Amino acid sequence: MDALHEVAVRVATRAAEHVRLRRPQVFDGTSNEGDGAVQSKSTPTDPVTVVDTETERVLREMLAQLRPEDAILGEEEGSEDDSLDGVRWVLDPIDGTVNFMYGIPAYAVSVAVQIDGVSVAGAVVDVARELVYSAALGRGATVQRTDGTREHLACSGVTDVSMTLLATGFGYGSRRRAVQGAIISELLPQVRDIRRIGSAALDLCMVASGAVDAHFEHGLSPWDWAAGALIAAEAGAVVRLPAANSTSAQGAATVAMAPGISDDFLAVLRSAGALDPIPG
Ligand code: IPD
Repeated sequence: MDALHEVAVRVATRAAEHVRLRRPQVFDGTSNEGDGAVQSKSTPTDPVTVVDTETERVLREMLAQLRPEDAILGEEEGSEDDSLDGVRWVLDPIDGTVNFMYGIPAYAVSVAVQIDGVSVAGAVVDVARELVYSAALGRGATVQRTDGTREHLACSGVTDVSMTLLATGFGYGSRRRAVQGAIISELLPQVRDIRRIGSAALDLCMVASGAVDAHFEHGLSPWDWAAGALIAAEAGAVVRLPAANSTSAQGAATVAMAPGISDDFLAVLRSAGALDPIPG
């Protein structure tokens, strides 16, 4: 487990250096569209940049050297087979690609390692803030800074849903967004406030650090949550996850919340219909 954790931190940190180096080369002096460096995926507003593609290559090449026997699922290149058996790395080279394009400093490299579909270690590197969040199953979660200091992460102590700062996000398709918008309009009067940070992996790390009290979103893919949800859970969050082999199209809800609100917050989400999947 320690060895897997070490590899997750090492490859995610190296990939984050690549992302940091390449952003000014690709986007400075151009529009947010990066002069041909951006293409669309599932919808015209769902982007992939050359840096997403390159960074997944960086991760895959490192893992091929360090862990040649293991399977890999990556956001940009997918996986060779759908099996959950054995050791599998789940990679998001840039989570928060829209922020990355626009220069909003909230995007991350996310690397999880799963055994039989269960995340056992993970690292999320906040590229702009140079923070390395990581966790190993049963061993707690930490954040490490560039000066080498490391802190244990713990969720907030909030006990009242009406005082909950809730991070959420939206899919890229307009039909799902319409339902997500309706759910948010039901939740907004019941919580302290809502944040749309733009990176689910960072939302989950912020639940872990207590920077927000809860996160929920429909239709996340395993690479969005596989590392961040472990980090949140190891920091004490109550998490409710899609199946390990779920696809974004199935639209299942991902929820992570501080333990003091979990029962009440789940009840609020249930009554808003927010625990039901929103296929899209
Ligand atoms: C996206 C981010 C965003 C979430 C979207 C994800 P991407 O990932 O995590 O916060 O709301 O659902 O797709 O596309 O930037 O890797």
